[in-house]
Amino acid sequence: MTVLPLPPYASNTYRVCVIGAGKVGSTLAQRLVERNVADVVLLDVVPGLPQAIALDLLQARGLEGHDRRLIGTNDYADTADCDLIVITAGKPRQPGMSREDLLPINARIVAVAARQAIARSPAALVMLVTNPLDAMVYVAWQATQLAPQRVFGMAGVLDSARLQAFIAHELQVAIADVSTFVLGSHGDLMLPLPRYCTVRGVPLAEFLDTASLDRLTERTRHAGAELVHLYQRGGAYFAPASSACAMVAAIAQNQSRLLPAAAYLDGEYGLHDIFIGVPCRLGRAGIEQIVTLQLTDTEREALHHSAAIVQANVQQALSGLVE
Ligand code: NAI
Ligand code: 2OP
Repeated sequence: MTVLPLPPYASNTYRVCVIGAGKVGSTLAQRLVERNVADVVLLDVVPGLPQAIALDLLQARGLEGHDRRLIGTNDYADTADCDLIVITAGKPRQPGMSREDLLPINARIVAVAARQAIARSPAALVMLVTNPLDAMVYVAWQATQLAPQRVFGMAGVLDSARLQAFIAHELQVAIADVSTFVLGSHGDLMLPLPRYCTVRGVPLAEFLDTASLDRLTERTRHAGAELVHLYQRGGAYFAPASSACAMVAAIAQNQSRLLPAAAYLDGEYGLHDIFIGVPCRLGRAGIEQIVTLQLTDTEREALHHSAAIVQANVQQALSGLVE
């Protein structure tokens, strides 16, 4: 079903295909057009849903003051020639579920979506949002057979933003002065790095005792579950959409930002053949550089422990796909 005739696209505009017009996908589409980051093609399997969201957002265009084009569709043919594909399609967690419980169903959805989308936009980058995030990036990479630098996932930006918000609130300081870094997998075993967190360059230890810091990092680890519990039907989407939008902007505008992303490691951090959250320089080519931090033995052990879980998830996801 097509509600409006699809407008032609100017060839010089950055064009993002958002697959999955649910909470995260629709909010991301809104952020992308209203912040003038990119034109958007929003795709979902539910007839009418992406068309309705696109039409609704188009009607707000005069009020929000942007000229970005946005279309909603159920047909991959309409996604042709996008620069970046963002996959948010799949099931979110419900109360009592872990991200891993989503593995079998979301692996199938992600593999099909990635393959269909890249067939129409063979030069595009692919960014994953669907959970369990780190394993889903691997599934999309396998499905598309792209160079690993072109496939990555959003999670560390969100986890870092959550820790940033908790610290700013605890210290009652301006959020812009708080800088945080969370690495590793997107789950309870994520690795907040207090050594790399500062308030305007001043180490966090000058402001917070160990017990307070542990409390805030622990809340960050469970921030997704806290919101699943509160929402009762699905998970967080405002902060996830803002995080994905920040990554898209970094890429579309070639900002040379250093952001955490689930990137392919081939020896970095002593890890091989895995996508997991590490600091990256993002640009038009995708993951343009992986920055290797000197971790303490404890931090390295924690990273390797979370990597082992991700690798087990990947095996489970891939074996489910061949059944
Ligand atoms: P939602 O249920 O609101 O939206 C999912 C959408 O995907 C639905 O509209 C559904 O119709 C669509 N969909 C299902 N199968 C599809 C297919 N084969 N092709 C196209 N569309 C399809 O869920 P929500 O809240 O938007 O979350 C989406 C995913 O993002 C979940 O897996 C969630 O766990 C994950 N997530 C990841 C975060 C991260 O930090 N990486 C943060 C927040 C959510
Ligand atoms: C989150 O962290 C559910 O992964 C999602 O909010």
